[in-house]
Amino acid sequence: MSLDPAPLRRPRRLRRTAAIRDLVQEVRLHPSDLIAPLFVQDGTDAPTPVASMPGVMRFNLDDLQREARELTALGVRGIALFPVTPPALKDPMGREALNPNCLILLAVRAVKAAAPGLAIFTDLALDPYTTHGHDGLLTADGTDVDNDATVAVLAEMGVLHARAGTDFVAPSDMMDGRVAAIRRALDAANLTSTGILAYSAKFASAYYGPFREAVGSARAAGTRSLDKRTYQLNPANPREALAEALLDEAEGADVLMVKPAGPYLDILAQLRQRTLLPLAAYQVSGEYAQLHAAAARGWLELEPCRDESLLAIKRAGADWILTYFAKDVARALQGS
Ligand code: PBG
Repeated sequence: MSLDPAPLRRPRRLRRTAAIRDLVQEVRLHPSDLIAPLFVQDGTDAPTPVASMPGVMRFNLDDLQREARELTALGVRGIALFPVTPPALKDPMGREALNPNCLILLAVRAVKAAAPGLAIFTDLALDPYTTHGHDGLLTADGTDVDNDATVAVLAEMGVLHARAGTDFVAPSDMMDGRVAAIRRALDAANLTSTGILAYSAKFASAYYGPFREAVGSARAAGTRSLDKRTYQLNPANPREALAEALLDEAEGADVLMVKPAGPYLDILAQLRQRTLLPLAAYQVSGEYAQLHAAAARGWLELEPCRDESLLAIKRAGADWILTYFAKDVARALQGS
């Protein structure tokens, strides 16, 4: 076979100058793609850093309000709030979750007052509140999470969050039937405008370690993680993940989410082909930590790797990306 000495097709023409490259760019990041996860803590302490997540802070309510305003000014349209529950308020049943003045509800009200234009997402799961760190109530023998008893509590929690003003409740527990139960409870309480962002394909991932440090949720002795494999998905099962997501759609979810994001781009891309709902992806704490760790050693350049990781998630099909890089990226995009 002879090689054509002068190829007719020269794809490099479209990469020749910065102007042409910009004109042909297919996928772009925008601040309104990003949702910033924020940790909120009790009391009046100055922001406390999370050791394994450089640049990430736990905020008191005043500092949370300031952060919400700063994010708004940078063009970010949504935040996901996570409470750091004081250990004294935890018990095996996670009762604090139903306290009408618990930290997360105070945080929702505070952000709504400070930055009313920002969309708020709050998790429905019991892990911030339970001494054992599982996302639900345990069965009588303590060996598993009790599905239906947990769903009943999540539905009650959803009503409290919605009344406080959250825009979307985000069940992150992976119990069966929870989206339908939460939707019914919200509708019965006349909270028909509150949306559900379903953590639909949430995998039993080892990348959640730094998050569990940030919120102080329990981990199994001697490890960084707790075994949640009876409810979170097996990382080896793409078909099961898609089935879960389509079930959440059928149960009334408004937006579906894949989590983690970077290691599960195939799931995102396949789900994009199978639903017309908006898709979110959660670039989780471990994905953030690994880029920072490599950058701190001088092994990777942080900003280009950060942007590439987010572009990849968007390219795979995500409309929204929950990312701890949200503020940095929004700031960088403002200058661009
Ligand atoms: C709680 C929850 C977790 C994360 C978000 N919500 C941890 C877990 O499931 O154990 C992890 C987020 C991250 O790692 O950034 N259900």
